[in-house]
Order: sequence, then structure tokens, then C-alpha cells
Amino acid sequence: MGSKLEGDVYYPSEEVINQANVKNYDDLYKRSIEDREGFWAEQAEELDWYKKWDKVLDDSNKPFYKWYTGGKTNIIQNAIDRHLRTWRRNKLALIWEGEPGDVATYSYHALNREVSKFSNVLKSMGVQKGDIVTIYMPQIPELVIAMLACAKIGAAHSVVYGGFSVEALAERIEDAKSRVLVTADGGYRRGKPTQLKSIANDAMKRSPNIEVCICVKRTGEECYMENDRDFWYHDLMGLPIASANCETEQTDAEDMLFILYTSGTTGRPKGQVHTHGGYSVYTSTTHRMVFDIKDEDRWWCAADPGWITGHSYIVYAPLINGSTVMMYEGAPNHPYPSRWWQMVEKYGITILYTSPTAIRGLMRFGDAWPKRHDISSLRLLGSVGEPINPEAWKWYHKIIGNEKCPIMDTWWQTETGGFMITPLPVTPLKPGSATKPFFGNEVGVVNDEGKEAKAGEEGKLVIKNPWPGMARTILNDEERYVNTYWKNYEKQGWYEAGDSARIDKDGYIWVIGRIDDVIKVSGYRLGTAEIESALVSHASVSEAAAIALPHELKGNAIHTFVILKAGETESKELAEDLRNHVASEMGPIAKPETVKFVDGLPKTRSGKIMRRVLKARALGQDEGDLSTLEE
Ligand code: WTA
Repeated sequence: MGSKLEGDVYYPSEEVINQANVKNYDDLYKRSIEDREGFWAEQAEELDWYKKWDKVLDDSNKPFYKWYTGGKTNIIQNAIDRHLRTWRRNKLALIWEGEPGDVATYSYHALNREVSKFSNVLKSMGVQKGDIVTIYMPQIPELVIAMLACAKIGAAHSVVYGGFSVEALAERIEDAKSRVLVTADGGYRRGKPTQLKSIANDAMKRSPNIEVCICVKRTGEECYMENDRDFWYHDLMGLPIASANCETEQTDAEDMLFILYTSGTTGRPKGQVHTHGGYSVYTSTTHRMVFDIKDEDRWWCAADPGWITGHSYIVYAPLINGSTVMMYEGAPNHPYPSRWWQMVEKYGITILYTSPTAIRGLMRFGDAWPKRHDISSLRLLGSVGEPINPEAWKWYHKIIGNEKCPIMDTWWQTETGGFMITPLPVTPLKPGSATKPFFGNEVGVVNDEGKEAKAGEEGKLVIKNPWPGMARTILNDEERYVNTYWKNYEKQGWYEAGDSARIDKDGYIWVIGRIDDVIKVSGYRLGTAEIESALVSHASVSEAAAIALPHELKGNAIHTFVILKAGETESKELAEDLRNHVASEMGPIAKPETVKFVDGLPKTRSGKIMRRVLKARALGQDEGDLSTLEE
């Protein structure tokens, strides 16, 4: 790579280059584009298969691409089973620390035992291949065990983030038609127990599909258990049915591994469908190459397993790569802002992968907290979830990385399964840029007609090719899958990401943010539609609109506009009540920053709320093209 890059550039050290798993990005990139299928066949060879694939890519029914068709595998075959036959059997798979300070560790051997036992429990409850089990849990090892157990028996999991609340959970249970729910009495957050089971109870009232609810006792707080429906996890795990022997189901490469809901522009959340084969290959390859994974590493992805980052990079990719995974239950600053740094020191963490929001939040407390701990074990850092502002990047690089750890700013989505745009450790870095496409991917920034933007010009981010980790469809809604991602650039056959971006003269990609009605709050993905329908479900509200406005710590914050029903009067108390109502329906992360009472909302003639106009007004900016605005 040349040394004439423009702007603020950080070059990798000799040491980083010498130890890198991939030393030359440009050569391998070129090869991966010229022979995409060859590249992905080679990566798939790194894994075990019960039966090899007949075809790497089946593109006979675009955009419903299939990968490794004819192949037989199960993600568990690679994430657990193959390690049991090597020295890794006794390697730590998982180190877990609870917020109160309790610790649990699992070797691959122990993880296999727990997963096998719970697989048998699920089977005894009638769970079969193809069923979707909903999981609603705090960040505890049993969450990982439940996910892996579903995969092992060929059932799919649908994990609902533990910070979501009643309506969000009920809606997801209903869409997935889950019969079985795995949950816990609660977890710990900022020193206080959360109440998951009572939220689950309310959700089960709203969507009565659930026949069996398995509950982990975490906090010991009292909670209502319904006879013949609700069972304690530890009771079931102690029964003879919970035998530690369980065959891994041999699934087809294209069999469903999990669904994970993302919030959309309108209506119900979208259940993104991921499959065993392609997802195994894509997540493990990206993890191994981008984070330069070695057997000695202690990997900490400080996300929640309830989001895609946790699925791909706490659970599946690191286990496939035989890594030791760190997982922590609670808040980064509890009881002190040094909690994370204390754990980095205590466990000798070598790679830390987190979000800009977390970095900004910890930066606020100053340098003294990380400096109190020896965090020199770190060799690589990562960022995900939203664009990272250069100021936070530089703090992360200097104070946490001691100026020696490259920062992997990885751009990707629930839909993509794994990293799409990302540096490698050997890539010269520019703070705030996710840099270059990962192998096999061609990325474009284009206008509405598909014409490439000029260097530095803003446009829509598209991916021009299929990749093994891509979501295969939206559960029960193929049409929506096509319309959301593939319609606008149908002619070209490109995937539209829903983000805006620009590419600079050096070919570095700078992601700007969402252009649709998705809001990223603290890196968490929420839909305006869900927030609005939570508001409208309140007895006083007739119509509502939600927009995102920039926020120093959270990246974006939710601001709402509400039209009251006739006869209702606006007041401070009602605004507060509405904010709390959204929090109790959706979850605390969705609680709006402000509620503003208005008489009308800007709409198109077809009745769609023009959030863009609301946003421009709130920011005092030009309102842009108003030709479609209703009189
Ligand atoms: C945003 C999270 C800038 C982006 C893995 C994307 C990012 C959305 C980055 C997907 C990054 C994610 N730089 N923006 N490095 N990573 N995003 O589905 O807007 O929760 O479309 O997946 O997060 O969010 P999701």
C-alpha cells in the first residue's frame, strides 16, 4: 500500500504486520473479486462438513441466493464438536462475570455438556427441527447455552434483547409463532435486579402461543410461575431427561439457524433469517481475518448477545474459531467507571470490540480510570454500531490502545450477518472511516439512478454482490425482503443498505448514517414505526411521529411529536407519562428524549409522515424539496 494517503492516517507498526493473519489486503482482495466462489470455497474448507457442498453459490432465483447447496453441516459441529477432538477440549470457551462480581467459566468440554443437556430438555418439551424458540434473557451463560442448544437440535432461535419490553416481546413471539420461551427471573443492571419474568408473563398474556416457558433463576427475586406452563431451568436440568449425550442434528447448509428481528419503517419488525452453512463460513472468516485471531487470544465483544453483534461475534464466530470468549452481564460503569478496565486486567483480554457509544461514555469519566489498571494485554481494538467520531477514536487509540492497537471500525448490519466494510490490522487507518470492503465484496456509493458518486460526494451505500452471511429472507414475508433491499437497484442486482456514505480519493469509505426510518440510539437499532405505535397505543394519543436528532453521547436521541385526541389537554405530566409509556411498551432504550404536542404533522399527499421535514425544522435547516407535501 502506498504511503501517500490523504488526511489523518495511522499506519500499522512492524509488529502488527509481522503477526497478522492476512499480510496483504490488496492481493487477496483482487483474487477474491476475480474468483469470488473460489475464495468462498477455500474459506469453507477451513470448517468441518458432514457432507461437502455441490455448489458454492446458487443464484438461479435472485435475490434469493443460496450458498453451499447440497452441503450438510450444523454450526455446532464447528463451534463445539470439532474442538472436543483436539486439545481445545479443555480450553476455556467462556469466561463470564456477573455484575455483582460472580464468575463462571466453561471449557469447551463443559459447554458441550450444558448444551447437550439443554438440547435434551428442549427435545423433551417437543421442540423439533424447524421450530422457532424465543429466548428473552439477561447476559448470562444460559443465554448462550440456550442458543447453542436450539442450533444443535436443528431448531431456530429468536433472541429478543433483554432490554426490550412487553409489546416488543409479544409481537416477536407472535410473528415467530413460538411455542417455547426461555427466559430468566431477571438480571443485574446498575446494581439492581431487572424483572424479566414479569415482562414475559405480560407478553405471554398478549400472545398466547407459548405453551412452555423455561425460566433461569438468576436474581432469586420472587416472580409468578404458572402451573403446567412455567418450569425452572435448574429443575429440568436435574432430571434424567437432561442427559449429557445428544447427537448434533445434521442440517442442510441452507436450513434456518436463527431469526433476529430488526425494526423497520412500517408495521411489524422484520425477522431476518440466517442459515447454518453460509453464516458459519462468513462469521468465522471475518472474525479470523479482521481480528487476527490466535489461540492465545482472549476475545471480548462487549455487546449484548440479544443483537446481531452478540450473535455473530460473542457466540458463533469466536466459538467456531476456538477462542476464549469473555462475557460480562452489566453496565460498563458499575460500580465505578473502571469496571471494564479492571476486567481487561483481571482476565488478560487481548482484543476488545465495542461501540462508539460505550467509548464516548467511558471517555467522559477521564483518563484516570483506565490508567489505574494494567491494560497492556490489549493488542487490537474494534468498534461497531454507528460511525465513530474522530475524537472518540483518538481517545480509544491513545488511552485504551496505548497507541499500539489498531482499531477495526467494522461496518455491517443484522442483514449482512458479519463485517462488510472493515480494515484489517495491516490497513492504514483514518479515524472515522470503516476503510475498505471485506474480501469478496464490492461496495458502491451511488445516486438514485445507480450512478457512482464522485470522490467525497454523498450517496447511497450498496453492495454489488451476494455473500455467504447475507440474510436469506424475512420470515413469512419474501415480498418485503425484495422490496426493502433489492427493489431500488433491481436492474443492477444490488443490495441497498439503507445508509448514506461517501468514498474519498483513496477509496476509503465513510459511512454517514441511516437514510430510512431506522434510528440508532447508543448503537441500538430501533424503528420509528415501533416507537410511534407505542405512543398511539396510549389512550390520549391520536397520531405520533418520531425522529432522531444528534446526541453527544448516544449518537442519536429520539424526539417525538404527538397529536392528542379531541378533548385531551397537553401538560408536562402527560408528556412524562407518554415517555414512560413508550419505555414500558418497548423498553428503556426507546424512551423518547422529548415529547412535543402539535396540531398537525407534515405529510405527503399519500398520507406518509415526512420525518425529514420535522428533522430539518428541529435542526433549523433547509426543509428541502416540499413538492410532495400535502396542502
Ligand atoms: C450502523 C449492527 C457506521 C449502520 C452490526 C447500519 C455503522 C446499522 C457501523 C446496522 C460502523 C453499524 N460505522 N455505521 N462501523 N456499524 N453501523 O442491524 O447505520 O443493529 O446500517 O447491526 O448500524 O445496525 P444493526
